[in-house]
Amino acid sequence: MPGVVTVDTKPFEGQKPGTSGLRKKVKVFAQEHYTENFIQSILNANKDSLVGCTLVVGGDGRYLVKEVVDKIIKISAANGVARLLVGQNGILSTPAVSYLIRKYKTLGGIILSASHNPGGIDNDFGIKFNCANGGPAPDATTNQIYDITTTIKQYKVVPEINCDISKIGVSNFDVHGSKFTVEVIDSVNDYVAYMKEIFDFRQIKALIQGTPQRKPFNVLIDAMSGVTGPYVKRIFIDELGAKESNVRRIVPLEDFGGAHPDPNLTYAADLVNAVKGGDYDLGAAFDGDGDRNMIIGRNAFFVTPSDSLAVLANNLHHIPYFQRSGVQGYARSMPTAAAVDRVAAATGKEMFEVPTGWKYFGNLMDAGRLSLCGEESFGTGSDHVREKDGMWAALAWLSVIAATSQSVEDILKSHWAQFGRNYFTRYDYEECASNPCNEMMQYLEKTITSPGFVGSSHSSGDKTYVVKLADNFSYMDPIDQSVAMKQGLRIIFEDGSRIVLRLSGTGSSGATVRLYIDSYEAENVLGDAQVMLKPLIDVALKISQLQKYTGREAPTVIT
Ligand code: G6P
Ligand code: ZN
Repeated sequence: MPGVVTVDTKPFEGQKPGTSGLRKKVKVFAQEHYTENFIQSILNANKDSLVGCTLVVGGDGRYLVKEVVDKIIKISAANGVARLLVGQNGILSTPAVSYLIRKYKTLGGIILSASHNPGGIDNDFGIKFNCANGGPAPDATTNQIYDITTTIKQYKVVPEINCDISKIGVSNFDVHGSKFTVEVIDSVNDYVAYMKEIFDFRQIKALIQGTPQRKPFNVLIDAMSGVTGPYVKRIFIDELGAKESNVRRIVPLEDFGGAHPDPNLTYAADLVNAVKGGDYDLGAAFDGDGDRNMIIGRNAFFVTPSDSLAVLANNLHHIPYFQRSGVQGYARSMPTAAAVDRVAAATGKEMFEVPTGWKYFGNLMDAGRLSLCGEESFGTGSDHVREKDGMWAALAWLSVIAATSQSVEDILKSHWAQFGRNYFTRYDYEECASNPCNEMMQYLEKTITSPGFVGSSHSSGDKTYVVKLADNFSYMDPIDQSVAMKQGLRIIFEDGSRIVLRLSGTGSSGATVRLYIDSYEAENVLGDAQVMLKPLIDVALKISQLQKYTGREAPTVIT
């Protein structure tokens, strides 16, 4: 009979989950006991409900996922977990994990992913815990996990349990008289069935295949060699009748083919060029773990994530799920442009502004006050799960296009004509030295909170901006009154324009500075965002002294 072995260990420094779980280089996770410590800490944080529970386990297919699934199986067995639902080959997209947790009412799930960060032996790995509502663990839980990692002395394993996760099926083990079950499940079945409930697949299929009256709507869907490959294949090829030429990079690779699996104009430049050069009506790309999305139209017309959120908010009535459940409020993260706020105001819905991080949406959804939300970081999703969902966003866009018979560009243009336009851009300065960036944030916080800053004028070219409000954003959750402090420096001007600066919480080394610029125009809606926002960017660089502190002349990524 397999036996439990207790292994002595010592705490590792820095096992503090960031915006979205613990992310470090593969080499860090590969240290003896490092991964085991963190898994044991997750389980200890759930100790009251652990014995007899079920957990979902899966990841984005990156290097180390299979090895870590094996560790989770052995440690779970030793800690009294009754059952694991494991994606075949360890493959489950993040939104699929969220759905499986909810569908099978499990205690939670463990997601093995560093999302959009590069993979492979020299790159990143990550571990994230999601709770029973399907959403990322809230700060209170991740802090508790972290505290446990700082004092951990032992972890438990059942070394003899070996399970072939390449084959679908159920394996039962007897651990000291208790049954322990590992159920390897098809990675896509449940999720695809759910998408078919949410959307009208017949309508989308008619769009993609064309009808006697309408030529096929030509899509190019890029899974970026991440986890969505099998989902794209099943949904687009098998269900919606798209051709092989409509999809690309649909085989998950441990190193994402050497690419950076992040759907934006820089890292998905291949897709952008293919759509620009080809006869495509829509391009979509998803990140490594399938929660992010980018949508572009014909000739690679770019839809900013903030606009995507606003357009979907204004069109949810075309989607069967919302026809049935109705639409409650909307939400966005603080740095996200305020385009959706205008839709909320026009339709009389509640609107929430939360800190960066999907975990802040969960309580509002659970309380029935939030139906649709999004973030500028290419995240869009609804209360169908408790994660953002790239595939969902693409299907939502196709539903809107099918219902309105408009092109992506025309949908945007008519949206701006109706609501005005929030021009938005984000500058990223990646992998900077940490200390000067922290100093810059301190300097800037001091500057903007000093007496006299509110009311001060800042000019660039022929534009002058007067400061209306400036602070380090803090948020009180309206449901459980928990408070998140210091969530980003923001300067809001009299005309509603905003400058936001924060340090990324998802990197695995160094610091990444993000500068977000949002400016509203009621009439002048067809300009180029970089041109329109240039004066405000200059003001931001001047106030923050970013170039001096980071030593960077230019950002590494502009979106
Ligand atoms: C992850 C989270 C998002 C968040 C993003 C921000 O993708 O799931 O909710 O918006 O990280 O990342 P950052 O690097 O800006 O902290
Ligand atoms: Zn992701």
